[in-house]
Amino acid sequence: MSDAMDAVTRSDHDAPAATPSTVSVEDRAALHRGAPAGEPLLAATDLVAGYLPGVDILNGCNLVLHPGELVGIIGPNGAGKSTLLKSLFGLVPVRSGTVTLGGEEITNLRADHLVHRGVGFVPQTNNVFPSLTIEENLQMGAYQAPRRFAERFAFVADLFPTLGERRRQRAGSLSGGERQMVAMARALMMEPTVLLLDEPSAGLSPVRQDETFLRTRRINKAGVSVVIVEQNARRALQICDRGYVLDQGRNAYSGPGRELMHDPKVIELYLGTLATDVEDAAAARRESAAQDPDAS
Ligand SMILES: Nc1ncnc2c1ncn2[C@@H]1O[C@H](COP(=O)(O)OP(=O)(O)OP(=O)(O)O)[C@@H](O)[C@H]1O
Ligand SMILES: [Mg+2]
Repeated sequence: MSDAMDAVTRSDHDAPAATPSTVSVEDRAALHRGAPAGEPLLAATDLVAGYLPGVDILNGCNLVLHPGELVGIIGPNGAGKSTLLKSLFGLVPVRSGTVTLGGEEITNLRADHLVHRGVGFVPQTNNVFPSLTIEENLQMGAYQAPRRFAERFAFVADLFPTLGERRRQRAGSLSGGERQMVAMARALMMEPTVLLLDEPSAGLSPVRQDETFLRTRRINKAGVSVVIVEQNARRALQICDRGYVLDQGRNAYSGPGRELMHDPKVIELYLGTLATDVEDAAAARRESAAQDPDAS
């Protein structure tokens, strides 16, 4: 086993769903490999959640976010990444398990109450009001504290200068990347301590993706603890303190971002490698040429 493999925890990927009574203290620590000591700011424990009666999408998910951390969630399409974020934010009913914020239970608390308590959420899709201007979108973000609007607007305009310059433009006429900025800025209007980001780089060009990742890191360095769900798993793991791999609504692997990135199993199952694809294609061409030497 490689060092990287040693350092990365394989949790209950092949095992039956863990239930609260069967998870030992050691297993719990392993679920959050690399997490700092002390009380987490946000903790999800054994979450079972879903949309339709009798259909569970999350089958006992666990996640902790410590103060100042930037934590990534990666995994295949349909793994339940968005569902996990939505269940943290009170948008999907949690059937069992708990969510705590600063040690207080917030399970199934309404989203507007969570915003008031310092949680911000940027959904994967439909995350701006297209008929409203940029400024009006940001006012919606600050509706619980309208008197702070000017101060918060100045903060987000510094982070996203384009938004300040084009504050009277309708959000519906913005590009995908610009809309994503509006959505992120709106979530920042209430000065959250925890920011939940669902695929902020989706649909953006590589340069815009990089900008999004850098901005996320800047927000984190400014003191906001961040959970980021990402399709661009490699890039996300590069900037994250720790990562969780979800598969079929369960924790599959977890560990420091850079260790997960180099873990052979995580690469094979979840990251994929262009190099491997190219090698496979070359091998297939060689095999077919050997079988049919006349083919050019
Ligand atoms: N509103 C909904 N009603 C019913 N089922 C849903 C709903 N939203 C998602 N699901 C189902 O929940 C499962 C997990 O979906 P989820 O959106 O959490 O996955 P994901 O990991 O975020 O995937 P992706 O990488 O494609 O965004 C999927 O099988 C999906 O069909
Ligand atoms: Mg999703």
